Amino acid sequence: MTNYAFPKDFLWGGAIAANQAEGAYLDGGKGLTVVDLLPTGDKRRAIMKGDVPSLTPLEGEFYPSHEAIDFYNRYKEDIALFAEMGFKCLRVSIAWARIFPTGEETAPNEEGLQFYDDLFDELIKNGIEPVVTLAHFDVPVHLVEKYGSWRHRKLVGLFETYAKTVLERYKNKVKYWMTFNEINMLLHLPFLGAGLVFQEGDNVEQIKYQAAHHQLVASALAVKACHEIAPDAIIGCMLAAGSFYPFTCNPEDVYQGMEKDRESYFFIDVQSRGEYPGYAKRFFRDHNLDIEMEDGDAELLKNNTVDYIGFSYYSSRTTSTDPEVNKNMTSGNVFGSVANPYLAKSEWGWTVDPLGMRITANQLHDRYQKPLFVVENGFGAHDEPQADGSINDEYRIDYLKRHIAAMGEAIQDGVNILGYTCWGPIDIVSASSGEMRKRYGYIYVDRDNAGEGTLQRSKKKSFDWYKTVISSDGTDL
Ligand code: BG6
Repeated sequence: MTNYAFPKDFLWGGAIAANQAEGAYLDGGKGLTVVDLLPTGDKRRAIMKGDVPSLTPLEGEFYPSHEAIDFYNRYKEDIALFAEMGFKCLRVSIAWARIFPTGEETAPNEEGLQFYDDLFDELIKNGIEPVVTLAHFDVPVHLVEKYGSWRHRKLVGLFETYAKTVLERYKNKVKYWMTFNEINMLLHLPFLGAGLVFQEGDNVEQIKYQAAHHQLVASALAVKACHEIAPDAIIGCMLAAGSFYPFTCNPEDVYQGMEKDRESYFFIDVQSRGEYPGYAKRFFRDHNLDIEMEDGDAELLKNNTVDYIGFSYYSSRTTSTDPEVNKNMTSGNVFGSVANPYLAKSEWGWTVDPLGMRITANQLHDRYQKPLFVVENGFGAHDEPQADGSINDEYRIDYLKRHIAAMGEAIQDGVNILGYTCWGPIDIVSASSGEMRKRYGYIYVDRDNAGEGTLQRSKKKSFDWYKTVISSDGTDL
C-alpha cells in the first residue's frame, strides 16, 4: 500500500504501561498507586472526573490493575511473541511505586529494580530496544495522602530522586526515555494524570496549573539527569495529540480550535522550547492564576529541553462555538469532541481519522522541528473469538493500515519520525473504562471485564499482518 519503504532503522513496536499490564500490584514490595484505586465502568469514570476515591481499596470491589494481564509474571512469554512479530522496540513504563513504594524512602526497593533489570535484559536478548516512560498515571498513593500529590512542590524532588535512580541503574540498557505520559491529561483527568483530588472550595484551575508547573520542572530535571547520567540516550516528552478542527470556517470556530490546541501545546511548548509561551502567561493573567515558580526554574526549563516529541494519536478532535452543534458530542482519548460528520467512530465513540495522523504529525513537526515518535495509536474494539478460537480482527488491521500509511505520508512530507509503537500490542486493561473488552492487541488475552479467564495468550489475525508490515519495512500493508 505504500510505494516507499520506511527507514531501515525505524523503530517498529508496541506500547504498554505498567499499571495496565503488570498486575502483581503489591508483589515485590510495590506500593499502592492511584490507578490501584480505580474500579471499572461508571465508578471509574466518576473518579476520573472528580469524585473523591477511597484511598484504600474497598472490600468486594473489583480493581482491574491489581492483576491486569499478569505481565509481571508472564513477560517472557509475551516478549517471545513480540519478538516473533519482529518488534524492534517495546515501550513500557516503570511503576514509580515498585522502586519507591511510598515515593519517600531514602533507599530504593531492590526487588523492584531487579524486576526491570530482568525485563530489559529479556527484551535486549530478543533484539528489542526498551523505550521507557518514567510516569504513566501511577503516583504513589502515600504522596496523595501526605502532600496532595503534584499540587505540592515536594513531589519535584521526590520524582527527581526516582528518575536519577532508574537512569543510573539502567543507563547501559535503555536508550529511549520519556518523562510524563500524556502530560496534557492533567488538565482533563487530574486524578489519573497527576493524582489530584479536590475538596470543596479548592481553586481547581490554580491547583491544576501549579501541579502542571511542578511536573514541567520535574520533567526538565529528568531531562537534565538523563543527559548527565546517560549521554548516549535520548529523552522525550509525551503529548496526547490529535489536532482540533474548527467545525466551520467561522473565524470564531477557527480561533477556538487554535485555543484548544494550545491548551495541550502549552505543555510541549515549555518542554520543547524551554519557556512559558506568551499565550499561557496571558491565560494566567486573565484567570487570576498566580503560579509559584522558584528562582532557577526558568533557567532550568530553558536549559533542559527534550530531545524528541513523543505523542499518542487515536483521532482528531472537532470544536464549535455553536451551542446547537455542541449538543452532538462524542468521546475520545482524554477529552471529548464535537462529532465530526465526515468521520466514522469506534464502538466507544472514538473518531477514526487516518488523515488526522498526517495532519497532526506535520503540525508538530512545523511547530517544534524535533524528531517525533508515535508512541501510541490503535483501535479499541470488542473481539469475538470463533468456535476454533481464532479472531478475525479485520477492523483493527484496517484502522492500523490506514494510520501507518498516513504516518508514511508524513515521513514523505519531511517529518522525522523515529518509530511507531501501537498501543496495547497484547490486550491490556483499558485506561478510561477499566474494561478488558476494549482490546487493542495482536495477541488476545483470555480475561473478561469481571476479571474471569485463564489469561492464556493467543494470536489474532492481525498478528501475522503486523509481522509482515515490519519485515517489509512498511511497504506491505
Ligand atoms: C492513552 C493512554 O490515553 O490511551 C493509555 O496513554 C490508554 O494508557 C490509551 O490505555 C487508550 O485508552 P483506553 O481508554 O482505550 O485504554
